[in-house]
Amino acid sequence: MYPFRAGSYAPKNGWYVAGFCEEIGKALLSRWILNQPVVLYRKEDGRAVAVEGRCPHRHFPLGESKRIGDAIQCGYHGITFDAAGKCTFVPSQTAIPGVYSIRSYPLVERGLWAWIWMGDAEKCDEALLPTLDEIGFNIEGLIPQAFYSMPVDGRYQLLNDNLLDLTHLGYLHSSSIGTPDDAATPEVRDLSDRRLSSRRYIRDTEIPPMHRSLTGHQGLVDRVSGMDFFFPGFHAGIGEMQYPHDHERAGEIIRTSRVWHAVTPATKNSCNYFFAMSGRSLEDLSRAKISLEPVLKEDKFATEQIEKIISTLDELPPELMLKSDATTVQGRRILQAMMDREMV
Ligand code: FES
Ligand SMILES: [Fe+2]
Repeated sequence: MYPFRAGSYAPKNGWYVAGFCEEIGKALLSRWILNQPVVLYRKEDGRAVAVEGRCPHRHFPLGESKRIGDAIQCGYHGITFDAAGKCTFVPSQTAIPGVYSIRSYPLVERGLWAWIWMGDAEKCDEALLPTLDEIGFNIEGLIPQAFYSMPVDGRYQLLNDNLLDLTHLGYLHSSSIGTPDDAATPEVRDLSDRRLSSRRYIRDTEIPPMHRSLTGHQGLVDRVSGMDFFFPGFHAGIGEMQYPHDHERAGEIIRTSRVWHAVTPATKNSCNYFFAMSGRSLEDLSRAKISLEPVLKEDKFATEQIEKIISTLDELPPELMLKSDATTVQGRRILQAMMDREMV
């Protein structure tokens, strides 16, 4: 499906963010991931688990069922499954064949996030997870915080495309985090087997409106803006503002930020979007959280409006491709190649 080849939806063999760790508690949390219903919860010993969210008997949602100890008792006819997915009780019979089970998925808590592996269990490998160092999580003096967990009514790749093409900052977010220089400055790309990164080094540029109000800085700045896309669904963003190279305080940092966007396919036409960032202090974070909410809503709005158009048209005309789409195209190709490898 668009923007991938017909029949391709999303890579399965990869780590996706199922939720922020802080979202997972004693209560059963239902979430669609890769077009599958999933239930997330924390066992009595504090360990977070993820199991299939559909009862194999009559397809009742297990996320709307009852938790008994570490097990889930289906809310329809009472079949019970433990946290590993094994059926432990059937009210109407004593024999419980081994096939009476649901899937349980590998779930790893790292940083602020609980990462799920929905694909081939044999290919599951924790070494494929982004490390906290490579996403800029452990920077001294910066405190990471989960901001928003947002359902979006648009296919996940629209949000990946959005994050791979930051030329939208000066337009979709013209009143907050971007200026036309974001689009006018060419980007520098770098690809490894784990991530695709892009950087823009913007010199003598107007400070974007939101950063002006957060820092109180009025004049021009030199800034670095970039994003590292860890396949298949995590983007680590970097923003750094300095006094311009010809200023008497040249090189001095005015503001540094690290932001993290996780994009997880929910259904074919919807996704889960998790946004987090780090700041110098809790006060800094609470001001940024208030300022960024409308910005994230602009991205959600764009994604949902585009989804409406592309899923309603009888036939989708080809896109107009710009020079600045090179990173987006490369990101799409990488995901398509992951999907192709899963088909053989
Ligand atoms: S649907 Fe779950 S026990 Fe019948
Ligand atoms: Fe955006």
